[in-house]
Amino acid sequence: MSLKISVIGLGYLGATHAVVMAQLGHEVIGVEPNVERLDSLRAGKLPFYEPGLQESLTDAVASGRLRFTDRHNEISAAADLHFICVGTPQLTGSQAADTRHLYSAISDLATVIQDGAVVAGKSTVPVGTAADLRAELLNKSGKKVELVWNPEFLREGHALQDSLTPDRIVVGISPETKDLGPEMVLRAAYSAQIAAQIPFLVTDLATSELVKVAANAFLATKISFINAVAEMAELTGADAGQLAEAIGFDERIGSKFLRNGIGFGGGCLPKDIHAFEAKASEIGAKGIASLLQAVDSINLERRARVIDLAKLALGELTGKRIVVLGAAFKAETDDIRESPALEVALALKSAGATVLVHDPMALDAVRLKHPGLETKDDLLEALAGAELAILATEWSLYRNLDPVAASSVVAVKNLIDGRNYLDAEKWQSAGWSVFGLGRGA
Ligand SMILES: NC(=O)c1ccc[n+]([C@@H]2O[C@H](COP(=O)([O-])OP(=O)(O)OC[C@H]3O[C@@H](n4cnc5c(N)ncnc54)[C@H](O)[C@@H]3O)[C@@H](O)[C@H]2O)c1
Repeated sequence: MSLKISVIGLGYLGATHAVVMAQLGHEVIGVEPNVERLDSLRAGKLPFYEPGLQESLTDAVASGRLRFTDRHNEISAAADLHFICVGTPQLTGSQAADTRHLYSAISDLATVIQDGAVVAGKSTVPVGTAADLRAELLNKSGKKVELVWNPEFLREGHALQDSLTPDRIVVGISPETKDLGPEMVLRAAYSAQIAAQIPFLVTDLATSELVKVAANAFLATKISFINAVAEMAELTGADAGQLAEAIGFDERIGSKFLRNGIGFGGGCLPKDIHAFEAKASEIGAKGIASLLQAVDSINLERRARVIDLAKLALGELTGKRIVVLGAAFKAETDDIRESPALEVALALKSAGATVLVHDPMALDAVRLKHPGLETKDDLLEALAGAELAILATEWSLYRNLDPVAASSVVAVKNLIDGRNYLDAEKWQSAGWSVFGLGRGA
């Protein structure tokens, strides 16, 4: 069954969701107040890089099922279901999440929403937010409407596939909701996934909010766990890469998210574990709060380890030419929010090094956000004259780089593999000194 859907907030999550909903046959209108982003989408151009999504956007627009606006009043008629996908960044000067965009979106929606419509929040929120937003929507609109929570689990770099075939769909519904109507609307929106046997779980609002932050906290904990073990390996001469491979064969542990390196970043994991920790501290859940504090500090410590390795390779950093390979927080995205790669680059610059950053997709964002950082689009030009290269984002173009070709342009053949991603033996055979994390230096 085809629905009339609005998607409010067209960032990495909302733009993907709008495209996918249209691709699934629904009639979709996307709402976005950011003029640049909206103009780009209206011109049929995805305002960020995400593999495969540009093609799907083009197809969805051509099908006539997807259009964009900045006016909430345009969405009222097109509205069996409104998805809220606005940002919930970290508050400045606090660990907690800034939920103001959500309240503002709900206020705007309350003025135009029609009886019978369902609102589904997809943003990641502190537990308790959905119940509060629901009360706000019911009070302000005075209409017979419902608000449910439908957290999103997509990964940047795999957003299209994750949206089309998620591991599960979770819908949190208030116990005050009297009928099955809202659940049925969500089932209709995701009928293709349900037909493909993707689990569809109905919970209460608080559980649905916690499912999302708990999943992110678990993934962050797994990364910090192997990074903490990597420190132990460094102190004992063991090899954390081999260790991770060996323990990853245990099905209970699994090998994903178990490669040690410079840690996690991005627009989600860091702010989500901070917000989870803040909420847990606020309500007295001491266990998870102290666990997440440890996860966070282990994560940050790994970046400091790269600076130590740079000093080991070069001695004094002042005036040394260092190229940082990668700026995006991970490969297959141009997202530089909380990027460990960029934090390493900025720390080296503060320590007096002459730093140059390369990335195949994220340099426009770097130039905008960090105009003081030197950047180069061409990889060999970026490497020219370097006394140290640091692999900071696992783009395949770096794995495909020929160490012999790189040798001919650098000043000194020093390499730190911050992601344990490159073939160290190949680089060593070409005469490079290779420093890895999680190995005795
Ligand atoms: N990026 C991801 O991979 C991902 C994955 C799962 C969940 N999430 C969650 O989804 C939410 C959005 O994340 P994102 O990465 O897309 O953020 P983003 O910053 O890229 O996008 C948010 C968008 O919302 C718009 N917006 C703000 N206020 C608005 C309003 N009142 N009305 C309409 N639009 C408004 C902004 O202009 C922006 O374009 C966050 O809660 C995030 O934690 C993100």
